[in-house]
Amino acid sequence: ALIYEWSGLTQLAKRLEDYFGLQQVIVVPGDYNEDDTVLNLLGKEAAQCFQSALFDGQVVAVTGGKTVASLTPFLHTADTENITFVAARGGIGHEMQMQANTLVSTFATQMNVQYRTLFLPEYLSEPAYRALLTEPIVTEMMAYYEQADCVIHGIGSAEEMAIRRNSSPEDLQTLEEKGAVSEAFGYYFNADGAIVHRIRTIGIQLEQVNNCKQVIAIAAGKQKLEAILSYFKVAPKQTIFITDEAAAKAVAHAI
Ligand code: BG6
Repeated sequence: ALIYEWSGLTQLAKRLEDYFGLQQVIVVPGDYNEDDTVLNLLGKEAAQCFQSALFDGQVVAVTGGKTVASLTPFLHTADTENITFVAARGGIGHEMQMQANTLVSTFATQMNVQYRTLFLPEYLSEPAYRALLTEPIVTEMMAYYEQADCVIHGIGSAEEMAIRRNSSPEDLQTLEEKGAVSEAFGYYFNADGAIVHRIRTIGIQLEQVNNCKQVIAIAAGKQKLEAILSYFKVAPKQTIFITDEAAAKAVAHAI
């Protein structure tokens, strides 16, 4: 029965792969919204994908979020220690344990490799942003984004992310008016996948994500249906998308 179930999930994955035109989709059993242990399955698959394609000198940008944090226990030392994890954004959009800055240090510790953090306020004024662009700690980070080989990221529902980030009521209203439904690496997208807003902070640019050889996106639970449908309209084709049965079934139902 278990084999039958897994083969059903493989078919589901194939359907999403074809529809979104992605390199690969992996569907793990269960519903993350109902059962937190699904995170272990997601993290294990994501870590396996990542570790199987490691190479010397690799630069890996990582976003924050609970889903991305799930890789932690499954990462282990490899043949090379010449790998650098970099926080995909400087801003602090989350509780401490889920921030990109924290995750890069935990990932690096697990693998005994290097990491780079960038602690900046989540929202920068235009003058502050401009002034920071020439600071050495910032230019060093931007050079890493330019060189990134791999990105590991989560996908958020726009509304949930804006609330988590303590956006002002005005900002929430703007996002709603602009029709934002998904968020990834500080960009907000509408239902058609168009960028409608970007958080003003130092972070990896969408073009740089597009240039990465490997992109691992992890998002699960049917509550993320709209966000998944929106983000994958524009996701780079080389993306490997790891999700759960509940989200995948909801997507299959909607397309
Ligand atoms: C954030 C990322 O940290 O996590 C976002 O910056 C992502 O890009 C979000 O959308 C998803 O979070 P979670 O906790 O639902 O995995």
